[in-house]
Amino acid sequence: MTPKTPLKRGFSTRSIHSGEDRQRYADSITTPIVQTSTYAFKDTQEIEAYTKKGKPRFEYGRYGNPTEKVAQRRLAELEGAEDCVVFSSGMSAIVTTILAIVRSGDHIVITDDAYRKTLEFCSSYLQRFGVDCTVVPFGDYKVLEDAVRPNTRFIFSESPTNPYLNVFDLVKLKGIAERHGVLTLIDSTFATPINQRPLEFGIDLVMHSCTKYMAGHNDILAGATLGRHELVEQIRALHKAMGGVIDAHCCYLLLRGLKTFPLRVNRQNEIAMEVARFLEAHPKVRRVYYPGLESHPHHAIAREQMTGFGGVITFEIKGRLSDAKRFLDRLQLCFIAPSLGGVETLITHPGLVSYYEYNRKERYALGITDTLLRLAVGIEDPRDIIADLNQALGN
Ligand SMILES: Cc1ncc(COP(=O)(O)O)c(C=O)c1O
Repeated sequence: MTPKTPLKRGFSTRSIHSGEDRQRYADSITTPIVQTSTYAFKDTQEIEAYTKKGKPRFEYGRYGNPTEKVAQRRLAELEGAEDCVVFSSGMSAIVTTILAIVRSGDHIVITDDAYRKTLEFCSSYLQRFGVDCTVVPFGDYKVLEDAVRPNTRFIFSESPTNPYLNVFDLVKLKGIAERHGVLTLIDSTFATPINQRPLEFGIDLVMHSCTKYMAGHNDILAGATLGRHELVEQIRALHKAMGGVIDAHCCYLLLRGLKTFPLRVNRQNEIAMEVARFLEAHPKVRRVYYPGLESHPHHAIAREQMTGFGGVITFEIKGRLSDAKRFLDRLQLCFIAPSLGGVETLITHPGLVSYYEYNRKERYALGITDTLLRLAVGIEDPRDIIADLNQALGN
């Protein structure tokens, strides 16, 4: 038979097929879950072909698994990356990536609007290993550039951020990084490669909590780091020692989630836009933060570097903490739960959940007010989500 020339495939096709061999185990259409902790060598010759001649194969579960390999290849294709490592959670991806890059005596810069645990790791745990960290206010590019020192190793930011959905100007970030010879790391969880491709802006490494949109069903934890092969290889080497590996069944669920990734995320973009407009027009809502709204401070940059605005909307209702609690307690469809990106609509009160141990003054200093709420739309009928919010707001 004449060999078939590979066809250039679209994003949806890649979400379903990438990373798989056409010829599958037992002719299965779905990816086999290789549920094993180790792999057998046929004989000593096979051991030596692997150890001495580098013949690729699997050896031990912490060093790789066939189901995981499919996920890594698929994610790399979707993000447009040379290489990818998949982890047991988003935090495992972030921590392992950072530790693989820094050395004692280095300095790093991170924006203040990052996920709390990431900030905590960078500004407190890393200090124990002699890595200094400067936290800069998000959006002040002058302060950011001034914070860079000769020993700065990287600049880290999320985009869009949590909870205010601030959007980082990736062209400016790249400019600063090039002037000072530092690496750039972007946590692109809220955007996904459907809405934003940081690598196309020259960003060095992209990280995702795949727990969110990529897996998409609020049922697993997973993470990924993507970028140039040479950098990702360093992360992969440490990953093998740190051991935050994803198990094969979890990987299967990630792969299954990815099959409907564009369907879900494109729909979530549409639903969030509709819900954001509803909230913005509601008399009991004080302010809405959604990068797709003209009122968002970073709407212009979001339009430039994003192709969709995501499924998360942050808003403040009028009144006090008791009004926010009453609103939450009245909800019938939206679940009160942290996280985002799944098919169920979730809502969280950052002040009561993520910042519960802060006093009011400390919370307000971080912009976490009494009536601030973060809504992560699922894929229910938008009119049902809106009706639920409307009745809970008391109209
Ligand atoms: C932006 C962002 N990055 C990273 C994480 C951590 O991901 P995981 O919960 O999968 O460890 C989260 C979790 O909420 C997040 O929102």
